[in-house]
Amino acid sequence: MAYNLLKGKRGLIFGALNDNSIAWKTAERVYEEGGVFILTNTPASMKMGNVNQLAEKCNTIVIPADATDVSDLENLIVKGMEHLGGKFDFVLHSIGMSPNVRKGRTYDDLNYHYLQQTFDISAISFHKILQTCRKLDAINDWGSVVALSYVAAQRTLYGYNDMADAKALLESIARSFGYIYGREKNIRINTVSQSPTMTTAGGGIMGFDKLLDFAERMSPLGNATADECADYIITLFSDLTRKVTMQNLFHDGGYSSMGMSLGAMSIYREGLEYNDVKEDKRNKKNSKKEDK
Ligand SMILES: NC(=O)c1ccc[n+]([C@@H]2O[C@H](COP(=O)([O-])OP(=O)(O)OC[C@H]3O[C@@H](n4cnc5c(N)ncnc54)[C@H](O)[C@@H]3O)[C@@H](O)[C@H]2O)c1
Repeated sequence: MAYNLLKGKRGLIFGALNDNSIAWKTAERVYEEGGVFILTNTPASMKMGNVNQLAEKCNTIVIPADATDVSDLENLIVKGMEHLGGKFDFVLHSIGMSPNVRKGRTYDDLNYHYLQQTFDISAISFHKILQTCRKLDAINDWGSVVALSYVAAQRTLYGYNDMADAKALLESIARSFGYIYGREKNIRINTVSQSPTMTTAGGGIMGFDKLLDFAERMSPLGNATADECADYIITLFSDLTRKVTMQNLFHDGGYSSMGMSLGAMSIYREGLEYNDVKEDKRNKKNSKKEDK
């Protein structure tokens, strides 16, 4: 259902790769709500995915840009404003990638060159986008900027690896730049901390199917889908949330406030409990000693 919440608003959407992407779903919802926008992704991702199809559907264009490259960003922002006929009212940063995760390097065996790439792509790109927009005065007063985060910024989750550190940095950039842009132009900057979602980036995390199942069991409202995330982002781009800024907003069905749920506990009733396993090992050791 559409409410015309974004009628007359112009924007820039980073990160639509395929129809599972959170940015893809958000672009579709923005279009339904009457907003116009430019889509962007790296040339390699444009070939790998099908963002051009989305552009056709939403009556717009794709301008290629690597979000870690400031000259690409300058070109994108200048051309984007030209195409839309004015400054942006909303910007979505939906970008994440860790070469360490991709290449199976665990957190206690990181490649530091990859780590820098993780930070650059997944967090510092957010600063680069904001700084470039500000230098080019590309966002209107009362504009809204959103980046996607994950609860691993606050809590340790097995397998999330160096992306946890990148998300912590991303959330910090939202606060630090949120102060500057808020003070100067009433522009708000927030991160949305989304449930695990089956996308190309999400699926790359070790044991992701188990993480999805665990989060589903732990969340009283269940995991939030990419479509539901898009709905939430629409509200943040709309004029209904003009005083929300510098926040990390959990969109996770209640997961982040839980400690243990019936759904998660029920797993342990089915099979062996962790302590049973430890007990079993101890018993085996003792019986070996007795044998001697
Ligand atoms: N899927 C999840 O479980 C989940 C949960 C919480 C947060 N997030 C975050 O949501 C965001 C979007 O991810 P997604 O799950 O939709 O996956 P996705 O793979 O569809 O999107 C990631 C996007 O990042 C883009 N990207 C990578 N390097 C880039 C670069 N140098 N410049 C520009 N773009 C680049 C990719 O091309 C891709 O479009 C990411 O920040 C991710 O960490 C995802």
